[in-house]
Amino acid sequence: MGFDDNFVWGVSTASYQIEGAVKDDGRGESVWDMFCRKPGVTFQGDSGDVACDHYHRSEEDIRLMEELGVGAYRFSIAWPRVLPTGVDHIELRGIEFYDRLVDRLLAAGIQPWVTLFHWDYPLDLYHRGGWLSPDSPKWFADYTQVVVDKLGDRVQHWMTQNEPQCYIGLGLHAGVHAPGDKLRWAEVLLASHHSLLAHGLSVQVIRARAKTAPIIGLAPACAMALPDTDSALDIEAARSATFSITSESAWQLAWWLDPVFLGSYPADGERLYGDAMPSYSPEEMKTISEPVDFLGMNVYHGRRVCAGADGKPENVARPSSEPITALKWPVEPSCLYWGPKFYHERYRVPIVITENGLSNQDWVALDGKVHDPQRIDYLHRHLRELQRAATEGVPILGYLQWSFMDNFEWAEGYKERFGLLYIDYKTQERIPKDSYYWYRDVVATNGSKL
Ligand code: GCO
Repeated sequence: MGFDDNFVWGVSTASYQIEGAVKDDGRGESVWDMFCRKPGVTFQGDSGDVACDHYHRSEEDIRLMEELGVGAYRFSIAWPRVLPTGVDHIELRGIEFYDRLVDRLLAAGIQPWVTLFHWDYPLDLYHRGGWLSPDSPKWFADYTQVVVDKLGDRVQHWMTQNEPQCYIGLGLHAGVHAPGDKLRWAEVLLASHHSLLAHGLSVQVIRARAKTAPIIGLAPACAMALPDTDSALDIEAARSATFSITSESAWQLAWWLDPVFLGSYPADGERLYGDAMPSYSPEEMKTISEPVDFLGMNVYHGRRVCAGADGKPENVARPSSEPITALKWPVEPSCLYWGPKFYHERYRVPIVITENGLSNQDWVALDGKVHDPQRIDYLHRHLRELQRAATEGVPILGYLQWSFMDNFEWAEGYKERFGLLYIDYKTQERIPKDSYYWYRDVVATNGSKL
C-alpha cells in the first residue's frame, strides 16, 4: 500500500511572496508593504514589490505547472488586492485576477486550492487595531464572503488561514515579521482568539455561500517533537511534548488546534496563562470549532525528545554535524511520519500536507541548468516517511510541495530558494531545477517508485 489513486499531488505558493505588482490595479497596502520599508528588518531591505512578477506572468507559470503534471495548486488571495482598505470597496480588477487564474487552472486540469489569508493583512485595518480589534473576526468573514461569492462556483478547496503562529507569534509577539510588534502576552492571546474566531466565521461563510460543495481546512505550521528512538516511552514522550503547553510561545500547536477540533483551549495552557487569558463566551468557542474537512499541515522539521527518568519528555541535543538546510533548519524526514500520525490521532480528521520543502543554495551551473540533488534527496526522504504513515492507515489526502517557484522568503528576503523553478530575479526567467523533473516523475507514478 502507499498513496491511493485519489492522492492529490500539488505545489504551493503565497500571494505576497510571488505576485509583485504591489501598486497595480488599485491594490491597497498590506502590513508587509509597510514592514519591508522599515530599515533593517528584512535581508538587505528586500521586499515583495516585484517578487516573481507572477501577477503579470501567471499564464507562463500555469503552463509550467501543467508540464509538471500536478493536480492541485495552492495559492493565496491578497486581501488588499480585493478590498484595498480591507473592508467595503471591492476592487474588481483585483478579484478578477484571481477569477482568471482559477479559470486557467481549471482549463489546465489543475484544482485551485485557495488560502484566504497568508499574512498580507490590509494596512488600513492594522491602523484600526488589526487582530486586536473585536471587529477583526467580522472583517475577515466579510472578506471571505466577497471571495467566495466570486470564486465559490468553481473553487472547491479552501484554507481559511496560513500559519497563525507566524503572523501572530512572529508578527505581533517577536516583532520579526510584519507588522513588527512586540505585544504583551495577554494581547497576543487576545489577537490569537480573534484570529481563531475569524477562522470559524470564515468556515461558516464558505459553507453557506459556496456554490460548489466546499472542502475546508486550515494550514498551520505544525511543530512537533520526534521520538529519539522507537521505544514506546520515547514515542509517548514525543506525543506529549508535541501537544503540551509549557511557555508563552505561539508555536504550541494545541493552542490553535484544540479549540478548532476539540472545542476548548488546552487546560494546561489556560492554567499557565491565568489572568492573561481573554474572556470568551461558549458561543464563541462554538464558532471557533465549526467543523472543517481536513487539517492542512505545513511541515519542515521537528525536534527530538526522549523520555527522561520520570517519563517526562526531555530534549535531545542534535549533533551539529547532522544535516541542516540553507535556513539552518534540521533535516528530520521522520517529521512526515510522526507528524501526520500524532496529529491524526489527536484530531481525527484527514490530513493534507500543505507545505514541505527545502531552502537550498541553488545557482545556475555552467551548463545553464540548476542541479539541486539536496532538494531531491530531501523530498525523497520525506515522501517515503509520508508513505509509511499512509501505509499504516493515516488518512493523507495529498501533498503540496513548497514551493513551486523560488520566492520572497519574508524577513529572509530572496536569499532563500525553496522552488522547483529557479527564478532569475533580474530577468524573471524561470528555469526548472532538476527537482522539478524529479517531482514530475513522482507525480506521474503516484509515488510508486519512491
Ligand atoms: C511559512 C509559510 C511560507 C514560507 C515557507 C518556508 O511556513 O512560513 O507558509 O510562506 O515561505 O514555510 O519558510
